Amino acid sequence: MLQAKPLRSSSTGALAGTIRVPGDKSISHRSLMLGAVAVGETVIHGLLEGEDVLNTAAAMRLLGAQAERGGDGVWRVRGVGLGGLSEPAQVLDMGNSGTAARLLMGLVASHPITCVFTGDASLNKRPMARVTGPLEQMGARFVGRSGGRLPLAVVGSDRTVPITYRLPVASAQVKSAILLCGLNTAGTTTVIEAEPTRDHTELMLRHFGATVTTERMEDGALAVSVVGQPELTGREIVVPADPSSAAFPVVAALLRPGSELLLPGIGMNPRRTGLYDTLVEMGANIAFENRRDEAGEPVADLRVKHGPLKGIVVPADRAPSMIDEYPILAAAAACAEGTTVMLGLKELRVKESDRLAMVADGLTKCGVKVEVGADDSLTVYGTGKPPQGGATVATAMDHRIAMSFLVLGMASAEPVQVDDGAFIDTSFPGFVTLMNGVGAKIAGV
Ligand code: S3P
Repeated sequence: MLQAKPLRSSSTGALAGTIRVPGDKSISHRSLMLGAVAVGETVIHGLLEGEDVLNTAAAMRLLGAQAERGGDGVWRVRGVGLGGLSEPAQVLDMGNSGTAARLLMGLVASHPITCVFTGDASLNKRPMARVTGPLEQMGARFVGRSGGRLPLAVVGSDRTVPITYRLPVASAQVKSAILLCGLNTAGTTTVIEAEPTRDHTELMLRHFGATVTTERMEDGALAVSVVGQPELTGREIVVPADPSSAAFPVVAALLRPGSELLLPGIGMNPRRTGLYDTLVEMGANIAFENRRDEAGEPVADLRVKHGPLKGIVVPADRAPSMIDEYPILAAAAACAEGTTVMLGLKELRVKESDRLAMVADGLTKCGVKVEVGADDSLTVYGTGKPPQGGATVATAMDHRIAMSFLVLGMASAEPVQVDDGAFIDTSFPGFVTLMNGVGAKIAGV
């Protein structure tokens, strides 16, 4: 259990310098999991060494793989081969991470082992039926709390059957859980998604040697299929810097007059870059320099300069490509000139916190006018002037709420305090030091 760590962020001058953002969280989880079921050694460079990913590494060890840190961000995983995961002698504690819990439930479901999953108070509130439902159809069994919530036991099977499953919600975690179960299931498992969600699982499965195909259906949906029981071979993986984490310094630089920041090697997978498209539409000065591919993922160096932002309408179909970025977009919108309307935010209610409620409450406390629509939209009325600030905002164990309001504090008339910054370590260890290194004024209270 982390100790609560209140933090206060005060108005700053120009931010200047280079920020090395830690590795992508989604890709880090997947590299440990796939490395653990491949044959031979996987060497990962730039792994995110945040709490969420460290919990995944610990879980893979309990399942029989070796996963050791070799140096800064360099990890070596020695896999057990597909189907070779062994029953863990202890509960798998996935901490704060929905991705770790849901993907791993899929991976173990096709093994004849029983695993008990738990998490922290935030994770144990989150809905799991979205993954246990399709995994049950494949032949695994689950015993969990009401609503399928953790703590939960998975009774896996070595006789899982392939399914074709249409996602009822746009979720890369659900898609990935099914594909990872399909990986050790004879035959072809297919997930149909009406809206494209992040495809790191598909890209990395191919990288390890699996056959994964994507086909567009007549109605425009994508059918993603994995052919079961391939031979996966250990690989070299280079994890790009996380675009979701980069969002915080990027928005901070946009908001502070005179700022210029360079953020090298940021992941630019098009299924992740909705926030950047949105900020550019709002008038942001962001240059995407030196675009290149690193180990199958597109990356670029971002150069961000301060400039005025204007309010816009963010369409619902953009949500999957920026699902984690609405809290920081809302902070940017609070400082923009004019109204920003964000549509289709229902999924924000089941993240690490109810992010729609937390953002609306926090902004209101900071003197920003907002409205939450019955259709789960969020409207932020920017005035082009600094928000009042001067409030303590609740974070509900949510790293992205904490970082978003610390960025808001940098641009507010009075400091903004967050009740607990400890969870920042789940995704962005070193956030406060890095931000203060380029000119932020964030301090413990
Ligand atoms: C993730 C998928 C998203 C995102 C999460 C990471 C992933 O969740 O919010 O932070 O790595 O697959 P959903 O699949 O629930 O949308």
